[in-house]
Amino acid sequence: MQTTKPHAALLASPGMGHFIPVLELGKRLVSEHGFNATVFVVTTDTSLSQSQLLKKSHPIPKLLDIVLLPPVDISTLINPTTGILAQLAIMMRQALPSLRQAISAMKFCPTALIVDIFGTEAFAISEELNMLKYVFITSTAWFLALTIHLPTLDAKVVEEEHVRNHEPLMIPGCSSVRFEDTFEPVLDRNNQMYIEYIRMGVQMPTADGILVNTWQDLEPKTLGALGDKRKLGWVAQAPVYAVGPLVRPVKPGSSSDVLGWLDMQPQQSVVYVSFGSGGTLSAKQTTELAWGLELSEQRFIWVVRPPVEDDAAAAIFKTGHRSDNTPDFLPDGFLTRNQKKGLVVPMWAPQTEILSHPSVGGFLSHCGWNSTLESIVNGLPMIAWPLYAEQGMNATMLTEDIGVAVRLKSTPPVVVSREEIETTIRQVMEDKGDAIRARAKTLKSSAEKALSKGGSSYNSLSYVANDCE
Ligand code: UDX
Repeated sequence: MQTTKPHAALLASPGMGHFIPVLELGKRLVSEHGFNATVFVVTTDTSLSQSQLLKKSHPIPKLLDIVLLPPVDISTLINPTTGILAQLAIMMRQALPSLRQAISAMKFCPTALIVDIFGTEAFAISEELNMLKYVFITSTAWFLALTIHLPTLDAKVVEEEHVRNHEPLMIPGCSSVRFEDTFEPVLDRNNQMYIEYIRMGVQMPTADGILVNTWQDLEPKTLGALGDKRKLGWVAQAPVYAVGPLVRPVKPGSSSDVLGWLDMQPQQSVVYVSFGSGGTLSAKQTTELAWGLELSEQRFIWVVRPPVEDDAAAAIFKTGHRSDNTPDFLPDGFLTRNQKKGLVVPMWAPQTEILSHPSVGGFLSHCGWNSTLESIVNGLPMIAWPLYAEQGMNATMLTEDIGVAVRLKSTPPVVVSREEIETTIRQVMEDKGDAIRARAKTLKSSAEKALSKGGSSYNSLSYVANDCE
């Protein structure tokens, strides 16, 4: 690699939801802003194979390397109650020595280290090796605002008003977070997730910059507040750069059974149903969703995972008789009855290719931020079904602020009924579909403008590039 170019080392935590946007950021730095880049990926066994898969299936620019760090084993450091956020933080901590070794072994030390939210402890390495340090938030500016403000909010107010009395959580200059949308680390200050989350919120503003996978016209109010030093007080040290939407592009010339099936369906007639890289439903909820899809009479593609065995009802579906190849966790005869209208894809589907297909007319999603951006850049209306993490906040933003989604009224752990699912799918695919689709198409253009040369996100990355020269 040449030495005259700035070189960014990027660090992605385990999981496709983090790796995909970090890789896209690296690609953009290389292809548009004159960088060399190395993406370090913290691995567990699962993410190792996924990353290799992605490397094989997507064109990677010449000046970008992907380095899989040795898999980390945290089995002795966690117990069954350790939440996912704390687990990711522990994995990243365990990976620090390998990261330090890998960077130190490079012929030329990279100019900057860019970590995702779980990697802020690696700032110690960038300080030691005299590199600039950035954090890349793979979610919204609103989530960023919550994260950096939480450590400074009055703990007693948070506890009494938000956690105990279910009052909205006020974030300076931004929309408040409703109790229903709040997420686990905020709720219990004795939990390890809370401690790790607060630590990240304290470390992030010490960076040379905070990059976020959103764009100016999508979140003008929040980004305005994040740029307003009076509102931010002590957390104002790091400038915030909106650099999105960074989403995985469609692989040119891709083909698969799913895409072949889509080719035969009418335009905008198919609803795509997926709960991201890790979302699962209970057995009872899986049944209700199956019936809801069938009753809606819409064409569908459903990425199905076996249900989590978290309720007694699961036992019924384990023993039920199945007359065709329908898996035993779906209603008897589901595949036969729906063979002309629907496609059930086990575990994983080529999502970006599906969402960009003209036959797809709507997306029933858990509102993970990557899925949300992929939907927006394809101008698709959404049915919002948030499950965990910051997905409740994302769903609120999509429905009440941006207006590209209809949200299911029931929220987990309440089981959403087949009738509610049927009605909501019909609303998006038939009744309200056109209005929301028009809004989604406007956002699609605004996203394209932000990313194009001279657009707000392009310019933000140029500022970062200038600092690295
Ligand atoms: C979680 C959070 O919810 C999200 O907001 C956060 O930013 C990252 O962690 P996750 O469950 O990984 O998200 O979902 P999402 O952010 O939507 O990312 C999933 C990615 O995997 C998307 O890029 C999607 O295209 C891809 N995917 C998922 C597939 O390609 N096929 C699938 O079948 C499922």
